[in-house]
Amino acid sequence: MLLDGRDSAAVQQAAQALADGALLGLPTETVYGLAADASSDAAVAKIFQAKGRPSDHPLIVHIAPGAGQAAGVAHFASQVPAFAQKLMDAFWPGPLTLILPRRDGVGAAAAGGQDSIGLRCPSHPVAQAVFRAAAALGVAGVAAPSANKFGRVSPTTAAHVQAEFGDDLLVLDGGACTVGIESAIVDCTRGAPVLLRPGNISRTQIEQACGQPLRSKEELAAPDPRASGTLEAHYAPSAKVRLMGAKALQTALDLLGQALDGKPASIGIYARSLLQSRSAQVVYRRMPDDAEAAAQELFAALRQFDTQGVRLIWIETPPDGPDWEGVRDRLQRASVA
Ligand code: TXA
Ligand code: MG
Repeated sequence: MLLDGRDSAAVQQAAQALADGALLGLPTETVYGLAADASSDAAVAKIFQAKGRPSDHPLIVHIAPGAGQAAGVAHFASQVPAFAQKLMDAFWPGPLTLILPRRDGVGAAAAGGQDSIGLRCPSHPVAQAVFRAAAALGVAGVAAPSANKFGRVSPTTAAHVQAEFGDDLLVLDGGACTVGIESAIVDCTRGAPVLLRPGNISRTQIEQACGQPLRSKEELAAPDPRASGTLEAHYAPSAKVRLMGAKALQTALDLLGQALDGKPASIGIYARSLLQSRSAQVVYRRMPDDAEAAAQELFAALRQFDTQGVRLIWIETPPDGPDWEGVRDRLQRASVA
């Protein structure tokens, strides 16, 4: 069932659903989440079951903004290193998740059994309204992975969530997500900040805000959690994805020529470069030149190719710059499957 996220009665109904231990589809600025009360092991189990996600893959716990923020952090985390506090001050509310040492006895199921917990305070007004209302009903934090089946493309509209889980799920509509790829994740449990997942906040911005260099997970090894967002193959549409440079792409299109004519659409092209194909069976979509705009539409573009029934998606390799790191990461994972 779809509810209008701008309607305060709908927000109250959504918060009540969380307090009652039910699942809720909800918008954030990054992607839509499949939400449940992080403190209820039974509610959290519903998330793992609906997604088909192994229960040892930790979920991100979302907390309310403002006064609720410090309370939420204190509830779930046993300790906040100084550099982590700087990151919160700089980027919360916003698309950044911090992994912190977990307080004993809270959110164990949501954390997938890790002794750490991923915390995020989103900037989306609908998410914030729900978390505030839920906190008033005793929900200290809301576990919410991306609202897609395990390994598939993350949803950036309410319609995407419904396409994944059907009409029985309560979904709050908050419009299309503005960021479009998941939050950047910084692990703050290893003595120095470690970037686990790039997002739209660049590594340069993160380093400036916390006043120290980011380390890589290889460099600063930890008993690495089995974290789905960091698995090689992820974000996979049904069609097979291949990344290549513009020249290789054009050559492939030339070789194809009109061989595909008369058959149903079977190749999607997603490229910044202007390419030519004489085949009507090639579906061409222009990738924005701007990294933020490309991130915003990325998952919707992959889903649209699937809807159009293409069998292959050929994507022009994105530029090397730091602002493209999040998009490069998602495309590399989408092309592993
Ligand atoms: O933008 C986002 O972060 C979205 C929206 C809905 O907020 N959520 C999201 O959640 O992407 P999810 O479950 O798809 O990604 C969670 C990832 C895990 O796969 C893992 O990489 C990391 O967060 N994670 C969470 N808790 C962790 C922990 N305790 N230790 C290490 N990694 C953790
Ligand atoms: Mg996900």
